[in-house]
Amino acid sequence: MDISWTKQLSVGNRVIDSAHKELLGMVNRMGYLVKVKDCSAIAEEFKLLEERLRAYFAVEESIAQAVNFHFASHKLAHQSMLDQFQRTRGDLAAMNGMWSDDDGEKRCCILRDRLVKHFKEESARLKLVLDTHLYDLQPG
Ligand SMILES: [Fe+2]
Repeated sequence: MDISWTKQLSVGNRVIDSAHKELLGMVNRMGYLVKVKDCSAIAEEFKLLEERLRAYFAVEESIAQAVNFHFASHKLAHQSMLDQFQRTRGDLAAMNGMWSDDDGEKRCCILRDRLVKHFKEESARLKLVLDTHLYDLQPG
């Protein structure tokens, strides 16, 4: 089931929120591709998703620096999120389309939930700091 970005998921910065929206949209699209078992599109989408994740990590880190936020533990959360995406990509590639609807859906739900957990829980401390700055604050 798709999850839409809502204001409740905001971390208090426009650049980061739009990256989060984009990532959620990509994971929703992945859910569709896994459902229809389009393996080459899945591989492409994971490649793109990984690029967007890395770009988002870099932008967020530079915004965190601009607001003097200690980024080390948040950075670890990014690494663990990337590991999880890469594991799922590897698992799905190894199965080459031979997954059940339930299994495919479950794996995509885990990725969606991982993103939402990152936005809501793992970004909570960053949000507290960002809320004291302009929503339009740009990376340095
Ligand atoms: Fe983050």
